[in-house]
Amino acid sequence: MDTSERLRNEGREQLTRPTSSAELEEARVAVLGRSSPLTAALRELPSLAPEKRKAAGASLNRVRQELEAVYAERRDVLAGAELEVRLAADAVDVTLPGDPVAIGVPHLLTQTTREIEDIFIGLGYRVAEGPELDLDYYNFTALNTPEDHPARLSSDTFWVSDHVALRPQTSPVQVRAMEQQPPPIYIVCPGRCYRRDALDATHSPWFMQVEGLAVDRGLTLADLKGTLEHFARELFGGDRKIRLRSHFFPFTEPSVEIDVSCFLCEGAGCAVCKQIGWIELGGAGVVDPNVYSFVEGYDPEEISGFAFGWGIERIAMLKHGITHIRNLYDNDLRFNEQWAGSTLAGVGR
Ligand code: DAH
Repeated sequence: MDTSERLRNEGREQLTRPTSSAELEEARVAVLGRSSPLTAALRELPSLAPEKRKAAGASLNRVRQELEAVYAERRDVLAGAELEVRLAADAVDVTLPGDPVAIGVPHLLTQTTREIEDIFIGLGYRVAEGPELDLDYYNFTALNTPEDHPARLSSDTFWVSDHVALRPQTSPVQVRAMEQQPPPIYIVCPGRCYRRDALDATHSPWFMQVEGLAVDRGLTLADLKGTLEHFARELFGGDRKIRLRSHFFPFTEPSVEIDVSCFLCEGAGCAVCKQIGWIELGGAGVVDPNVYSFVEGYDPEEISGFAFGWGIERIAMLKHGITHIRNLYDNDLRFNEQWAGSTLAGVGR
């Protein structure tokens, strides 16, 4: 066997043995690389006698071409097989259940707001909104609030300029909404309010209220009471009763404070109702005819209506046994996630 033949047989054998691309690369270096016997033999050609050189050179070069072809074929075969293995391992089984995605929970105040809205939407009301920063005209004047009313003082309300304040109540939306449509009007207006109150367990300088306004022909205090009773029963349970206590608000006459019978002790007296059997809900009343004088198209000789308003935090706290208002503003997810099971959690609105 001459050198070429031996190199070819050994080279073939070495190049066909490997079962991985990495092994094949090693074999390529050994068979065709710079230090391989084949390269050594090619380097020795110039030292051969001229008559042998040509034939030896031709046959060594044939061997090299042949071995390079063997190598290229093996390389493609192995790379193909390896790709197959990788693809099989990477395959996604679309029938497997996916990783669960953590879905957020609407904040409890959002849930409570929606719950209140939904009760009134069920009665034909619509949801209206107004600015948090409003003119003194809407915050006070058009709500029949006298110039010397204490709520106008800078000790009570956050004024940002002579005539603009962070609204201390959602009541200004009543006037803004009436300006936008003729009677009849049935609206609820939830939103943020601001007052210069020190933070304690039940007060915060920012808080939420929901305002209600109904103006139509022939509405009376009895309609207000029926509406409030329906609301209390939807929110706190079917046996709730409503009690109205006389009070004063500039924009209603008569004005009342609303109590709802305690949903925990059924009126017997407990810690939630402070042993009284009744829980104060908020304020309400028959819209003072003076308020209509600030709005075009609302003639108190033809129409009448009622209004109401209360804090949303208070409702959330009562319903869910929350003892400090700050819990609603700390943004601790562990707190909020407790209400993931509430009826309205996860509703994507
Ligand atoms: N705005 C009042 C407050 O913040 C609550 C209120 C009372 C709203 C009577 C009303 C109402 O609409 O008629 O204390």
